[in-house]
Amino acid sequence: MVLPGALVVSPSRAITGSLRVPGDKSIAHRYALLAAMAAGRSVIRGFAPGADCRSTLSCLEGLGTQISRSGDVVTVIGRGSRGFSSPHAPLDAGNSGTTARLLAGLLAGLPFTTTLTGDDSLRRRPMRRVIEPLSRMGARVESDGGRLPMTVRGGPLQAIAYVPEVPSAQVKSAVLVAGLNATGTTRVTERQPTRNHSELAMRRFGADIRIEGSAIEVTGGRQLAGAEVDVPGDFSSAAFWCVAAASIPGSSVEVERVGLNPSRTGLLAILERAGADVTALVETTSSDEPAGRLRVAHRALQPVVVSADEVPGVIDELPALAAMATHGGEITVRGAGELRVKESDRISALVAGLRALGADADELPDGFHVRATRPLKGGVVDAVGDHRLAMTFAVAALGATGTTTILGASAVDVSYPGFFEVLGSLTA
Ligand code: S3P
Repeated sequence: MVLPGALVVSPSRAITGSLRVPGDKSIAHRYALLAAMAAGRSVIRGFAPGADCRSTLSCLEGLGTQISRSGDVVTVIGRGSRGFSSPHAPLDAGNSGTTARLLAGLLAGLPFTTTLTGDDSLRRRPMRRVIEPLSRMGARVESDGGRLPMTVRGGPLQAIAYVPEVPSAQVKSAVLVAGLNATGTTRVTERQPTRNHSELAMRRFGADIRIEGSAIEVTGGRQLAGAEVDVPGDFSSAAFWCVAAASIPGSSVEVERVGLNPSRTGLLAILERAGADVTALVETTSSDEPAGRLRVAHRALQPVVVSADEVPGVIDELPALAAMATHGGEITVRGAGELRVKESDRISALVAGLRALGADADELPDGFHVRATRPLKGGVVDAVGDHRLAMTFAVAALGATGTTTILGASAVDVSYPGFFEVLGSLTA
């Protein structure tokens, strides 16, 4: 008997096919939030179907925003930053760190008090990284030792100049969102570049924003305007198929209309270094986000080292790369301590899970080392409620000699509902 939420993955020969992936989660959160802050009607096409972006929409509805959804089209009636109303109950960000941190940036500038909470995983994740800059801007925030639930007493904000201690697009974005409602010009300078979806989206919705090298400046007080935007396919979801194709001899996968923003596609250079045949072709820049066609085919895998400066551009794809190294080659990742504060401790849970399947894998304090010294046996592995680990273990399981049962496989619904159905069709 398979436990509820568990799934069995069988070993597979080559995977081949052409597909599209659901809308990008990172971009969809930002479009929804900015549309709610804007004046007028916004239409967001290709909205991400997972639970995380649903959390963003329901938090915005809790703040009085009128939202309707039909398939993957979301319509938001924004009433400007003064149009939000005090919620009747705490806002629940579910499993979504992006929802919690970006929303904190909005709440900081609203003239009422809001409590923000999340599921067990999110309540363990660090929030001090946003509490500190938002407090400096003038918000009063109480939290459970830097964790959710946190209560944000919003009010008038002053612009700050900020250099985040960790490379985090969520921290950068929280400060920039608060900056939209602050007096003066808020400046965020990044030590390491992170995904720039907030900057592109703010420009699209009419914010007064400038990018100068590693610094981003936003001047508060300009009213955002509703917009019609398209969300490209989620590169981080496509990544699992790219990695699976790179891993299994004879495989070739093509993903259409996928986001190809260079701040997200660090995986591709690593796949090329590992020997894979990679073609990426930007076809559109609709809504300012580059998108196009991506093709990855297998070649013999070589050992790769991921350096610390590459980490922000591949942070969500590192588990998938570990799965690749169970098929062939070898991977060493350093400078990725941030993985320990994701939806799970993605270093220890990743290595424990791969080892349970028979992998030669070791934890490093800030990364991991995985070598394909022997084929995986398969077995039982726990995704520990982490969507990306559920998909990672599925990709690893394709190269095992026996079947693999993934406990908590339904966690994929957070970012990629239908993942296992697509896996079935690609391996058929
Ligand atoms: C995200 C930023 C990254 C990433 C997360 C989504 C975003 O997190 O891991 O999945 O949408 O801004 P950090 O900002 O914590 O690095």
